[in-house]
Amino acid sequence: MREIIIAGNWKMNGTVAETEKLLKELLAGKSKKRGVTVVVCPSFTSLHAAHKILKGSHIALGAQDMSAHQKGAFTSEVSASMLLTVGARYVILGHSEKRQYHAETDELVNAKTRLAFASGLTPIVCVGETLDQRESGQTNDVVGTQINGTLAGFTGEQLEKAVIAYEPVWAIGTGKTATPEMAQEVHKFIRDRVGQVDREAAHSLPILYGGSVKADNAEGLLKQPDIDGALVGGASLKADDFIAIINAA
Ligand code: PGA
Repeated sequence: MREIIIAGNWKMNGTVAETEKLLKELLAGKSKKRGVTVVVCPSFTSLHAAHKILKGSHIALGAQDMSAHQKGAFTSEVSASMLLTVGARYVILGHSEKRQYHAETDELVNAKTRLAFASGLTPIVCVGETLDQRESGQTNDVVGTQINGTLAGFTGEQLEKAVIAYEPVWAIGTGKTATPEMAQEVHKFIRDRVGQVDREAAHSLPILYGGSVKADNAEGLLKQPDIDGALVGGASLKADDFIAIINAA
């Protein structure tokens, strides 16, 4: 059985106080504690406070990005070791908003992923096509290129420690979700692609779906054989909604 992961990507939302409030609501809520790995990814500035609240709980902490460099003169960047000191265990890499607004390439995401593996952080590597790309029949080409590029050069042993998130760009924050069948097709494609490198890693690899996941569509998506969880943006900012998604898993 593959690990099921429900991860909340809080993006640029929440002061420290707001983050603390949301975490307390999540901990107080009745969410499944067995069989599902729950991860929340607040902003960098809230990680330390979040760690203090989550320590010893069933909710793990992740960051939304990190530097491709270990340390030094990289103004504004945050390193893997800095994330580890504030309790992060996961890191989202190559999110489409980073690709779109910060011109992140597969090569850069590959370098960051390499560093995540080396430092013991679990990378959640994001891939996904735009609406134009889907409508012109390029989904597999685009996603295949992203998978090949971001995961280039990794061994099966490393890939076994990765998490992939398939997030069609047209579904992020738009209220439009891929149908369970559409998502399943791409998830299967991704698993097969990773299987060309290492069959065992492909078999155990959690592939999360992201893009307007809500309490009412989570179950249908999560029922698909190759959908092993969700990366949730908007709906993870409300405790009740996020808990409902966790409980649907
Ligand atoms: P959304 O965001 O759930 O608000 O669409 C998902 C994401 O960007 O990870």
